[in-house]
Amino acid sequence: MLNGKQVLYSGMQATGTLTLGNYLGALKNWVNLNEEYECIYGVMDLHSLTVRQEPAAFRKNARSLYALYVAAGLDPEKNCIYYQSHVSGHAELSWILGCFTYMGELNRMTQFKDKALRHAENVNAGLYTYPVLMAADILLYQADVVPVGVDQKQHLEITRDIAQRFNAVYGDVFTIPEACIPKAGAKIMSLQDPQKKMSKSDENANATILLLDDKDTVIRKFKRAVTDSDTVVRYGEDKPGIRNLMDIYSCVTGKDYAAIEKEFEGRGYGEFKLATGEAVADELAPLQARYQELMADKAYLDGMIQRNDEKAEGYARKTLRKVQKKVGLTERRF
Ligand code: TRP
Repeated sequence: MLNGKQVLYSGMQATGTLTLGNYLGALKNWVNLNEEYECIYGVMDLHSLTVRQEPAAFRKNARSLYALYVAAGLDPEKNCIYYQSHVSGHAELSWILGCFTYMGELNRMTQFKDKALRHAENVNAGLYTYPVLMAADILLYQADVVPVGVDQKQHLEITRDIAQRFNAVYGDVFTIPEACIPKAGAKIMSLQDPQKKMSKSDENANATILLLDDKDTVIRKFKRAVTDSDTVVRYGEDKPGIRNLMDIYSCVTGKDYAAIEKEFEGRGYGEFKLATGEAVADELAPLQARYQELMADKAYLDGMIQRNDEKAEGYARKTLRKVQKKVGLTERRF
């Protein structure tokens, strides 16, 4: 509990630009959660270092992610939005938790196995201990709930295991977090291969809508979206492409599948794709305008970052000192 509310914690890696999938599956759903929870969102820049980054582009991406959080509607006065690397407690707690994590557990992480295959030239120890740092992120703030995509479920489970193991030895130090996984509908697939998740690292640029794509680009990509040889807009198991477009259209307009089927009765795929493209472009336009404003207002953004960094640091320090004391590290006098 923090300020009388349960704590909600989440974040995204600060790599590249966000996609429509990141937005509809996560960011858009985070807005207004602060009414119910004390919300803390990190720009996860330490995690990004597990892959080699070009320093200038990396710094820019991290700031861009911060601005996108705010532009999407997370009010930085009501949500603690901060940089992971600005709170040194993440790295410190991560070390301690690493001493309570078994290699056998880390060896079972499917994301590590996938990434090790994809980055065979750089299978570094950070990639391996990635879940331990993630556990530190969450446990440092005594989070009750953690909204994440289904791909992060295993990392939430290991976080709970580490916390329970620690608590079993030292008493109730950590809150045991619950994962909060969005409904299937919020998983946005590639526009070119609807069996695959929409991903910013897709080689085919037409597969992915980036949050900062302009209107023409968005519409062009939707027009080229892969569907099937049928012509009826219907939510069916056998129509993954149309299903994905219907999910997107539904997320953006709030209409349910029945209403969408009715709206496009007898109108064919072309019109439906165009309507989806337009609806997405209209949804993104105010976000993009706000983003440009924020990126241009250095003083405002810097001020927000500093205030929230300090707030996060205060929360984190409380847990870190408690943990250090519990394990028997000598108290520090400064
Ligand atoms: N690993 C998460 C992802 O790629 C990002 C992340 C890092 C995270 N630390 C976190 C998400 C803590 C939730 C809580 O999506």
